[in-house]
Amino acid sequence: MSTINYSEKIPNNVNLSEDRTLQRALEHWQPNYLQWWQDMGPEGSQNFDVYLRTAVSVDPQGWAQFGHVKMPDYRWGIFLNPGDADRKIHFGDHMGEAAWQDVPGEHRANLRRIIVTQGDTEPASVEQQRHLGLTAPSQYDLRNLFQVNVEEGRHLWAMVYLLHKYFGRDGREEAEALLERNSGDADNPRILEAFNEKTPDWLSFFMFTYFTDRDGKFQLCALAESAFDPLARTTKFMLTEEAHHMFVGESGVGRVITRTCQMMNELKTDDPGKLRAAGVIDLPTIQRYLNFHYSVTIDLFGADQSSNAATFYSSGLKGRYEEGKRSDDHVLKGQTYKILDVQGGQLTEKEVPMLNALNEVLRDDYIKDSMAGVERWNKLIEKAGLPHRLKVPHKAFHRNIGTLAGVKVSPDGRVVSEAEWNAKVDEWLPTAEDRAFVASLMGRVVEPGKFANWIAPPVMGINRQPVDFEYVRFG
Ligand SMILES: [Fe+2]
Ligand SMILES: [Fe+2]
Repeated sequence: MSTINYSEKIPNNVNLSEDRTLQRALEHWQPNYLQWWQDMGPEGSQNFDVYLRTAVSVDPQGWAQFGHVKMPDYRWGIFLNPGDADRKIHFGDHMGEAAWQDVPGEHRANLRRIIVTQGDTEPASVEQQRHLGLTAPSQYDLRNLFQVNVEEGRHLWAMVYLLHKYFGRDGREEAEALLERNSGDADNPRILEAFNEKTPDWLSFFMFTYFTDRDGKFQLCALAESAFDPLARTTKFMLTEEAHHMFVGESGVGRVITRTCQMMNELKTDDPGKLRAAGVIDLPTIQRYLNFHYSVTIDLFGADQSSNAATFYSSGLKGRYEEGKRSDDHVLKGQTYKILDVQGGQLTEKEVPMLNALNEVLRDDYIKDSMAGVERWNKLIEKAGLPHRLKVPHKAFHRNIGTLAGVKVSPDGRVVSEAEWNAKVDEWLPTAEDRAFVASLMGRVVEPGKFANWIAPPVMGINRQPVDFEYVRFG
């Protein structure tokens, strides 16, 4: 069951060849996908041989096989975790009933919307990152970028399979539309705001993979609890791929910090001007990038009060993070949750029905998880013997959705006037000058084992290969 059939046009472990209509429909979508990859995928990379991992089975030990592959030849496919025939719905109004192997009519529109919204983020990030290969700080980093890109492409396949198999003609139309919207496109943008932002430089890329791919993790974890069993099984496998994306982000930012701290010690200064002149990224700039990516990403969880969130939970479509490990009643009726509010020019808390606050519950779980990694970055600064520390901004800082949308709040959580915001925003969010400086550092480093000056080498290579391994062979 878990072994993947690679003899077919579309690698899969779902017995695709037994459903000829579905197989034909997906084989019809496949060339459109490849055309999208050609047009919107990593720029100028079609002939590179890249040291990539490919799934060969969904078993925890055996799924990753490494080898040099040209990206257009990557075996994108459909891989679901094994099913459990006795699986029961474990939260919401249908708790205790058998999990759904098909889409119940009354939940069809909502499930389709959930799957399309998740699916839309996957190709969006590939589009956002498509120019980064031209300025990779090393072969090792270039390979990691491409690994993330091909796996986001595969995540699109995961969602398109569900659309084709379970949503008929509507699903096939949605699958086409997933290739037609484009990140940042004025007329036909991606669905969610953060996926229309640019990822113009590698510091942005590392922040994105740390913060925004982690949003992916939390959304996938919530969907992995779904009563719709095929969605639960496919998101469980996606999560195993997602872990590497967050590793790329955490270790990437960590290596930038390490290099900056080395230079701070070498020059005995924390003066941003001197550090910039030495070609590294000063910690205040890193902090501003962090503030930006963190605040844009926590908006992705949606409004703090949402009747959709309540419906999705009660009807069993989307659970909470680690639903199965929680010890409450998993129905949540009559329970409350504290969300932020603004009263008389100050942030306050108010209690609202928990079912309506489930976006906030997921956001708060995400925040806890994000903060842990920022503390690991601080350990690097501490190890370098420096007193500086990075900090995630207040949850209300720079928000654009729900109660806090448009309220001006400082990173330390004070509601501020428009005038104070305007006076301080250049200390809080990346300025055009910050971005221009970071952009000025971006230059392509292609020799194996060499790294751009602004980033430290990794502690070890990929798949136990040496750091100076030839991760990318340029054709
Ligand atoms: Fe993804
Ligand atoms: Fe990802």
